[in-house]
Amino acid sequence: MKVIDLRSDTVTKPTEEMRAAMASADVGDDVYGEDPTINLLEKESAERTGHEEALFVTSGTQGNAVAILTHCARGDGAILGSDSHIYIYEGGGLSALGGILPLIADDGEGVVSPDDVNSWCRPANVHFAPARLLCVENTHNRAGGVAVSPGSYRATVDAARSKGLKVHLDGARIFNASTAWDVDVKEYTGIVDSVQFCLSKGLGAPVGSMLCGSSEFISEARHWRKRLGGGLRQAGVLAAAGLIALNKMTGRLAEDHRNAAELSSALISGGLAVEKVSKPTNMVYVQIGPEGPDAAELGRRCAARGVLFGAVSERRFRLVTHFGVTAEDVGVSAKVILEEMKAS
Ligand SMILES: Cc1ncc(COP(=O)(O)O)c(C=O)c1O
Repeated sequence: MKVIDLRSDTVTKPTEEMRAAMASADVGDDVYGEDPTINLLEKESAERTGHEEALFVTSGTQGNAVAILTHCARGDGAILGSDSHIYIYEGGGLSALGGILPLIADDGEGVVSPDDVNSWCRPANVHFAPARLLCVENTHNRAGGVAVSPGSYRATVDAARSKGLKVHLDGARIFNASTAWDVDVKEYTGIVDSVQFCLSKGLGAPVGSMLCGSSEFISEARHWRKRLGGGLRQAGVLAAAGLIALNKMTGRLAEDHRNAAELSSALISGGLAVEKVSKPTNMVYVQIGPEGPDAAELGRRCAARGVLFGAVSERRFRLVTHFGVTAEDVGVSAKVILEEMKAS
């Protein structure tokens, strides 16, 4: 039985081209700055995002932690969306590792409003943890994989910077956002102080994220990466796949978005309540009513027929398209989900 895995774009496996490039990668000791393939990936990532330098990190979580620890000191506040990946899914790293206070604001539509940013920028007063940093996420996972528009993104970033805050972009899927809006990725990445993007999700590399910023920022970030145990040695074997992710795989994300749109239409035609998103990308979130199986039970039934997805709450589930999922797979998945929904 063919398995169609819609749980996440993190399940992608390296392509044959990546595996071949990894096997023949030119390597050195990256802690000494001597790995030519890492150096090339860092240079190309910096150029692509409009920053002076970049740093290879092991994961998106590590990239976000290193960025926050670099921008903030103990007792500082970081404005975070209440639905953001950093706040919900990264183990409270900013507080555990840095003694940094999350200043929470609504980001249910994908981005914190400029007004909420302004209201966290309180006058200097011994009672308050001073806001030093705003973190934004784009595309925004829990807001339905929405690609936040360049306009509303810029309004929030500008509000923060005009108050003297640094801005970090959790751009785990920033190339999905730039693809959805058909803009150069720099429209998002070039106006923030730092950005982390993942090579390991829809871009298909097995490991790694890139953290980009000014030379001064990256030099301090390199210390934090080392403190967190992220200084790798012959990491060029990973960077070889990362270069293909950056240069080739970013060009095919529109296909994943088309497949997600197809999946969404098929489920809507079959009567399911797919959540509406202002600019969808490769994620489809579905709400199921009180009748019939709950999301976990539906997931088990579909898994038995080779269609995998994740329940995010009792009556809500998520489907994610990626390069391991074809247009045909999407049709099969919709059929299986609709049949299992009805077979209660
Ligand atoms: C928006 C977002 N940020 C950060 C991460 C963390 O990436 P990693 O799993 O590589 O730590 C993820 C992972 O899914 C994510 O969706």
